[in-house]
Amino acid sequence: MKQNTVLRAEDVCKSFANNGGQNHVLDMINLAIYEGDFTVIMGSSGAGKSTLLYALSGMDRVTSGRVYYKQKEITRLKEKEMAALRASEFGFIFQQMHLVSNLTLMENVVVTGYLCKKESTRSVNQQAFALLKQMHVEEAKDRLPSQVSGGEAQRAAIARAVINRPGIVFADEPTGALNRHNTEEVLNLLSELNREGQSIVMVTHDTRAAIHGNRFVYLEDGRVMGEMQMPPYRKEEEKSRERQMEAWLASMAW
Ligand SMILES: Nc1ncnc2c1ncn2[C@@H]1O[C@H](COP(=O)(O)OP(=O)(O)O)[C@@H](O)[C@H]1O
Ligand SMILES: [Mg+2]
Repeated sequence: MKQNTVLRAEDVCKSFANNGGQNHVLDMINLAIYEGDFTVIMGSSGAGKSTLLYALSGMDRVTSGRVYYKQKEITRLKEKEMAALRASEFGFIFQQMHLVSNLTLMENVVVTGYLCKKESTRSVNQQAFALLKQMHVEEAKDRLPSQVSGGEAQRAAIARAVINRPGIVFADEPTGALNRHNTEEVLNLLSELNREGQSIVMVTHDTRAAIHGNRFVYLEDGRVMGEMQMPPYRKEEEKSRERQMEAWLASMAW
């Protein structure tokens, strides 16, 4: 089956100035992200994974090269246009949830929906509740982020990330701050969203998290070193997926 390309990086470079010199963090990245995939970006700490995610999602400017979302070159957009596109087309999940601390979980989700202006207030409210329910956190909906566990906060953050039905959800180490039980739950919820058709790009250095994806990109020193595909995640195949992942990572000198 031929998949549509939803995001494309062409010759993307990113460097930071560091005491007089340049630190080349992304070095000529050429990468396509396909619709419906759960793409996982792996690589050791400092490989440039987060920087790549920020470049792909327009959170940060590239030094050179181009990024296209569908047919639109987003690296050309003015800051305001980029912010509007991010708000309506992209969802974000981070290691630290970045929920607004003086808003309840429900308010955190609906405000993101109101800002996007795709739907009526009433419809946003209904969808926010349905999503919090799907994320098994509806009972905590009226609590502040400080009054819930890390796992509950992250599940609310996932609801917030998908409230606007984004073209892509970007997740940067979304389970990095969670215990094992919450990690499993969050990954299962991401898998469920992906089965429903949500395109996801996730950065992780955790093999157990990575096996929830179906396409894998290995980054080292800011370069794409290799790629692998697997069929979509199924819990029954977890052990064999882990073995396949470990063999691939070993071949990448992980
Ligand atoms: N804002 C920044 N300013 C300067 N250097 C940065 C900045 N962000 C990242 N870097 C550098 O880029 C490299 C890759 O960082 P990062 O993308 O966070 O790696 P990863 O997510 O794979 O661990 C590191 O050497 C880091 O120090
Ligand atoms: Mg990182």
